Amino acid sequence: MQSNSGVVVILGTGGTIAGRSVQAGDNVGYKAGELSVMDLVAAVPALQGRALEAEQVAQLDSKDMDHATWQRLAQRVAHHLARSEVQGVVVTHGTDTAEETAWLLQRVLAPSKPVVLAVAMRPASSLQADGPQNLAEAVAVASAPGAQGVVLVADGRVHSAEDVRKLHGYRVGTFNSGDAGPVARLEEGRVMAQRPWPEGEALGVALLARPVAEWPRVGLVCSHAGVDDWAVRAAVAEGLRGLVVEGTGNGTLNRALEPALQDAQRAGLRVLRATRCLAGGVVGAPDGAWPSAGALTPAKARVELLLQLLA
Ligand code: SIN
Repeated sequence: MQSNSGVVVILGTGGTIAGRSVQAGDNVGYKAGELSVMDLVAAVPALQGRALEAEQVAQLDSKDMDHATWQRLAQRVAHHLARSEVQGVVVTHGTDTAEETAWLLQRVLAPSKPVVLAVAMRPASSLQADGPQNLAEAVAVASAPGAQGVVLVADGRVHSAEDVRKLHGYRVGTFNSGDAGPVARLEEGRVMAQRPWPEGEALGVALLARPVAEWPRVGLVCSHAGVDDWAVRAAVAEGLRGLVVEGTGNGTLNRALEPALQDAQRAGLRVLRATRCLAGGVVGAPDGAWPSAGALTPAKARVELLLQLLA
């Protein structure tokens, strides 16, 4: 049973869901972040008559997502969630960094109401645009009794911020939750829960209040065959405060990186170990290993380390 009682606020940030190409058949040479969030809502007949508010927070290709936009977005989401008449919030977003934004919002807000990222792999002008269906389904999730936490809706599935990952650069069915599986699926507008909704302790939006120019710089380097330590040493020289190392397999790091990482730690830089494997995360922590990012993707581990350093 779906409830339509409260207001759903839709915050626009751009992305392919708001993208437009000159030719309808062009699913590659389009520009993301062209249509307003009001245009996106107006294009979905199923949303007409629903109690909705739309607000444009940003208008960008999410490959260009930045800390200032995250700060503003988190503040606007928090503002609307605090309104008693608001049942849930939808954020229209590009697919490229959606998993990072989702994790940031989950860790900062851990909302008891649903916050739903709506994305698309095809621009709004495409012959096979997936945005309108994803947006309608995101609103259904934002209105679903019992729904909570930050999730992403795409291709009829609801993924948690913690588990979601973009796997394919072109196909529509690109999002996956790995071993955990989706939180729910959608069938004809009905939200069918499959496992508990995300929960957690909120770090609080005040954590992001500091001017972004003062946020600690956190980088991401990759361990690979033949790697040397230039990137780790450059991170220290540049004054970075944190470094995520994208390891091989179960988060293992090439021995060529170790001395530089030890030096970096002595210089005050925090290190977090993730894996470049597409599923499974890092399991366990052998004695002496660098702290692990667990199930988080390297990009989400960078968000996690940023938040830890801001705290
Ligand atoms: C973007 O991330 O803004 C562009 C790509 C997409 O949304 O699929």
